[in-house]
Formats: sequence, structure tokens, C-alpha cells
Amino acid sequence: MTAELDVTAPPPGPLHFSLLTLFPELLRPFTQEALLGRAVAAGLLSFGLHDLREHSGNRWRKVDDSPYGGGAGMVIRVDVVERALAALPERPDEIILLTPAGQRFDQRMAEELAGRRHLALLCGRYEGFDARVETLVTREVSLGDFVMMGGEAAAACVVEAVARLRPGVIGDEQSWRDDSYSSGLLDYPEYTRPAEWQGMGVPQVLQGGNHAAITRWRRDRALERTLERRPDLLPTAGLTGHDSAALITLGLSEQQLATIGAPPPPAPKRGRKTKASVQTEPV
Ligand SMILES: C[S@@+](CC[C@H](N)C(=O)[O-])C[C@H]1O[C@@H](n2cnc3c(N)ncnc32)[C@H](O)[C@@H]1O
Repeated sequence: MTAELDVTAPPPGPLHFSLLTLFPELLRPFTQEALLGRAVAAGLLSFGLHDLREHSGNRWRKVDDSPYGGGAGMVIRVDVVERALAALPERPDEIILLTPAGQRFDQRMAEELAGRRHLALLCGRYEGFDARVETLVTREVSLGDFVMMGGEAAAACVVEAVARLRPGVIGDEQSWRDDSYSSGLLDYPEYTRPAEWQGMGVPQVLQGGNHAAITRWRRDRALERTLERRPDLLPTAGLTGHDSAALITLGLSEQQLATIGAPPPPAPKRGRKTKASVQTEPV
């Protein structure tokens, strides 16, 4: 069971991350470098690193104990987590437990979390947390079907994916709107100099200045990649009639298009009538 929080629209201001971990020094440089460091300096993001050992409640700073029922490994105590959360300067909008047993993290979740004002990320170690920690959090999140040694790398991934969606954190907002998943499709292929490398050239259309042709080419390539690699994304990709026409060219049948809920392709344009054709048309 997870605790319910009433989450309202975020007030303007920075997005604050509270990172609760046994290894704050693993995450500190990560929050200070590159775009994250710049966003902090610009007042767009802020980070609090909270050492769970500060809340151990004993002079040995011991936060874990052996599992009831026996078995390998150690389990992080629920009372330690409770005290660590209570010591945060304010109540977070979301308290996220990072665990392989959680809901799979994806772009939709990143977009939802980017609308919050304060996110707390709870990083486990060893065998993870006492199961009663689940009653202290608003959601449980997994990075995927694999097990890491700790939650810090998972927290770093969540921070990266959420922070870049906040206004001003990456230079050009359009660049994330076109990215894989945000656009509903996988991203189109990109190229830069050299124009020729080991016999492989850059598509001619990208080297010309026809912006409409470039936009259409990119959309078609995004459709092609998605059809090849992640056809499961197509039903929710917000396809247009022009996309349907492109998908037919790429080999999809009209019946398959209907199955994924794509709109019908636009009717072929009728050629401009010449005097002769008008005269010969039946009435
Ligand atoms: C060794 S893991 C514990 C695994 C746990 N006994 C299980 O089998 O589900 C230690 C910590 O790493 C983090 N972790 C490992 N894999 C993760 C994943 N796929 N997603 C999110 N967090 C993960 C969690 O915070 C977890 O508490």
C-alpha cells in the first residue's frame, strides 16, 4: 500500500530533489556538473543530499538489521527512513521508493514528475528496505527488470529524465519535445560533419535548405524506426493521415493501420484540370 498525497499544480520556482541515501558522496558530483550544475547555479533546480545514517538513532550509525525469518543480507530499518523523511525541511510532493519491484519508469512518468515542486528519492542498498517503508512513500519506481547494488544510479536516472523537462534546464525546449517517447515515436536519425565517412554519406535532403522537406523526411524516418524497432508505440503516437500514408509506403496495410487506430491516409490530390480534361469529363 502507498500513502496518498494531494498533489496540486506546481508553483513557479525551482524543482527541489531530496536524495536520501547511505552514500551521499556518490551523488554529490552528479548534482554539481554539466547541465544539472548549471541549472542549480541558475536557480532552476536545487538538491538536498540526506545521509540515512544521520537518522540511525544509534552511535554506531547502523541503519540495517538481519531479516526476520532468516536469509542472506541485511534490511534497512523502517524507523530510520521515517526519521529521515520527518527531518526534511518540508513535506515533498512525492516520496519515491526506488526498487526493482516498482512501476517501470518511463517518459510519461518523467513528464508527470516534472510538474511537481519537490521530489524525494529514496535509495536502497543491501537487501533493500523493510517492507513497511512502502506505507511512507507515494510511489515505488523501478528502472527496469534488473537488479543494481543500490538505488543511487536509479535516482540519478530519474533526476536526469525529470530535470531536463523543466523550463530552461536544457537550452531549447523543442529538442526534448522531438525526442524519443516525448514525440510519441522514436527519434529520427541525426547527422553532423563529416558529410562523408567511410563510404557513408549524409542524406541529401538534410544538406539542402528545404525545411518542409527536412521536416517531412525526419517524421518519415521516425515512423520507419518506430515501425522497425518499437511498433508497440504506434497506437499511442498521435498519428496523422500523412503518417498513415508514410506507413503504407513503409509496408503497412490499410487493415494494419486500422488495427492500430491510425486515421485513413488523405485522398490522393486530383491533378489540376486542363481545358482538355474538363471538356472530356463526363457530366
Ligand atoms: C540489491 S538491491 C535490492 C534488491 C531486492 N532484494 C530485490 O530483489 O528486489 C538494493 C537497492 O538497489 C536499488 N535498485 C536495484 N535495482 C533497481 C532497479 N531496477 N530499479 C530501481 N532501484 C533499484 C533499490 O533501491 C534497492 O533497494
